[in-house]
Amino acid sequence: MNETVTELSLLQEMLVTHFKWFHSHPELGHEEWETTAHIRAILAEAGVEILDTGLKTGLVACIGAGETVVALRCDIDALPIAEESGLEYASKNGCMHACGHDFHVTSMLGAAMLLKERESRLAGAVKLIFQPAEETVNGAVSVLASGALDDVLEIYGLHTSADLPVSVIGVSPGAVYASVGSFTIRIHGKGGHAAHPHECRDPIAALSHLICAAQTIVSRQTSPFDPAVVSFTHIEAGNTWNILPEEAFAEGTIRAFGTERFNAIMRRLEHICKGVEGAFDMRIDFHGELNAPAVNNDGELVEFVKHTAHELGFKTCAGSLTMGGEDFAFYQEHIRGVFWNIGVASPEPPHNSRFTANPAALSTASALLAAVAEKSLKRLAGGA
Ligand code: NI
Repeated sequence: MNETVTELSLLQEMLVTHFKWFHSHPELGHEEWETTAHIRAILAEAGVEILDTGLKTGLVACIGAGETVVALRCDIDALPIAEESGLEYASKNGCMHACGHDFHVTSMLGAAMLLKERESRLAGAVKLIFQPAEETVNGAVSVLASGALDDVLEIYGLHTSADLPVSVIGVSPGAVYASVGSFTIRIHGKGGHAAHPHECRDPIAALSHLICAAQTIVSRQTSPFDPAVVSFTHIEAGNTWNILPEEAFAEGTIRAFGTERFNAIMRRLEHICKGVEGAFDMRIDFHGELNAPAVNNDGELVEFVKHTAHELGFKTCAGSLTMGGEDFAFYQEHIRGVFWNIGVASPEPPHNSRFTANPAALSTASALLAAVAEKSLKRLAGGA
């Protein structure tokens, strides 16, 4: 235990330096050039192999060898938010690591260093995914398309939690992040003089009814025991006070736990569009799509992660459910896995300009990632 504590406190110091660099150099999804170069340099210095995946930004590294393969994943992109945290290492480039992805990158680098030290003992290979573009929910798809994960048997990842105390691990089985989708609605009416509405077909009146009717999907047509969201986030119609426009436009998002429930809500919204179409004599184009399925944790592996955390002396608790999305879900469609939270006690929630992840949790995050990878290899290879 003492040896581990010393090892981790040395690692912690190094990680804080890396964390501050990543925090002050945020880049948006698919533009993480400097971030990728910096990760590459740190891994190369530690002697870690970087795989040739063809990814433009982000990378996949590999430690160990053999046919038993597990993966650890972090995301590396930032958000278009001007930082107001007041930190001495705050970003000045108009973008911000306001979702803790700088913390994720750094903890993965720490895990890489710990695994590199234990490389000769590993019962297989660990692939470390530094994934681009999580915020735009399409980075995971590009990593999967590279084929780098075709031989991976289990996958693990983490996300900072603003609410949990520093270093506490929150993890739960089943769906923990929502299925996320978006929709667009375009109403084609008939424009004309606002003084003669009977000669027009007003798309604004129709859209108003449609939006009100859509509020009943969650309140009247979905079980109170199934969390769900239908939010309109953007509407547009007309440009002045005395002309009824030809068209009205709306878009928004649907969230639910599980693709089946998500699809049921999307169908209800489409039916409402059909109803309004008939009732108001309009033509309505409706388009809805699932952007990311739910993050769905494997129950058995959740117990394994908890057990591993306890062995290291870390505290765990139930993970909180969120209607937010996470493209880690795409990996779990193919590979068994667990996505957990680690407390960073931020004064403000993620995606806020004053979000701050407490770097004191870094070495805990690294130690758990490394131990989970090492022990899952051992288990899969039949050694434990
Ligand atoms: Ni995030």
